[in-house]
Amino acid sequence: MNTSRFTRFGFILAAVGSAVGLGNVWKFPYVTGEYGGGAFVLVYLITALFVGVFVLIAELLIGKLGQSDAVTMFENLAVKKKNLWKYAGFIVVVPLIILSYYSVVIGWIFHYIALSFQGLPATVEESKSIFMSLLTTDVKTQLMYHTVVFVLVTAIILKGIKDGIERINKILMPLLALILSVLFIYSVTIDGSFGKAVHFMFDADFSKLSSEAVIVAIGQAFYTLSLGMGIIITYAASLPKDANIVKSSILISIIDTTVAIVAGLIIFTLLFDKGAESTKGAGLVFISLPSVFYEFGSIGSVLALLFFVAIAFAGVTSAISMLEPMVSYFVNRFNYSRIKAAMICSIFFYVLGIAALLSNISDYSPMLMVGDKGLFDWLDFVASTILVPIGGILAVVFVGHFMDKETINGELVPLMGSALTKVWFFMVQFVIPIALIIVILNETGLFKF
Ligand code: PFF
Repeated sequence: MNTSRFTRFGFILAAVGSAVGLGNVWKFPYVTGEYGGGAFVLVYLITALFVGVFVLIAELLIGKLGQSDAVTMFENLAVKKKNLWKYAGFIVVVPLIILSYYSVVIGWIFHYIALSFQGLPATVEESKSIFMSLLTTDVKTQLMYHTVVFVLVTAIILKGIKDGIERINKILMPLLALILSVLFIYSVTIDGSFGKAVHFMFDADFSKLSSEAVIVAIGQAFYTLSLGMGIIITYAASLPKDANIVKSSILISIIDTTVAIVAGLIIFTLLFDKGAESTKGAGLVFISLPSVFYEFGSIGSVLALLFFVAIAFAGVTSAISMLEPMVSYFVNRFNYSRIKAAMICSIFFYVLGIAALLSNISDYSPMLMVGDKGLFDWLDFVASTILVPIGGILAVVFVGHFMDKETINGELVPLMGSALTKVWFFMVQFVIPIALIIVILNETGLFKF
């Protein structure tokens, strides 16, 4: 049982804090760039707003009805095959795996916050060499910042739901909203370039849309909403009893999507204004943008500082959410103290994170390569492209086929009527699992659509 609960507002903030992260401000803009803009964004929007809301409702239902840790809830709420469903709880390990390298990336962001004070790179070449030397040679800096993240998130998690998670989200999320608003207003005033960014993101040219882009958009929608990892399920177990899970789901997905779109518009406006190319992949934020900020002159350092602080806030609130499912499992199931549970989980992600960062360092990378990828890339690939969709499938199949239908109807019909509840059932029972299976087959290359 939870000893402390979120307030209603605190829950929304914490769920949004988990959802809004590097996925919105870093990954979404670069995958949008990579897959050609407009049509990709449209597919993402449809998936995040519709599919996302359906799955959020499913996960909130599990938490609200289960009132325990994610592993125990699968077991307790199953009306058949209980013995099998307890294994579905393995998904609580997935966010810890993600956290190992996510923490390293937050560390890079801390480094770039420092860089905004010290001086930005004047050219893309210089920018590239700064980033590549951080990534492939600088163990000390990466380790130092990874350690800072480790200490920070552990300290917050130790304080529990209300005094730790809710409180930090209440501070960081409004600040994040404020900073993004300032950056957005600034971008809107850059006349021609803002228009170009809008066209790039919203002119849907379907001839450019490959099936791969559709699948990446679906995967991104899940990742960005923190679905399929036991996080929303765990947070929802601490929902206040009178919370409306349908309204909460809609709100979470609208805010998360808005942040992604706003971040994309800011980044593309700044890039287009200086005629910069959008570097593919991670480099968009860490290579292209810093030299673009430089070109903005003295205001550029302020823009850079605000931008990297915003991503750091977004990243930290997501990072905290990744620890909680496993911590709450240990506390609940084995009666561990919160300190003991938090230390075990944090040390796990910390050590794995060190191995991940070493796998990018030239001297060590040959030892940490498997096939064509280093450990860092493997962790990201296995966790976000395979395990997250599997977690999503488990959640919807569970709610759709293995929980008590009457109880679910009792929760949902008063909130959204029986017709919509039927549509929801059809989506979680059939449409969403099939779509996710297609995502996994495609991403793993087992079957290309
Ligand atoms: N939703 C977060 C983001 O968009 O950055 C990512 C994330 C959060 C992934 C929590 C995994 C997780 F457990």
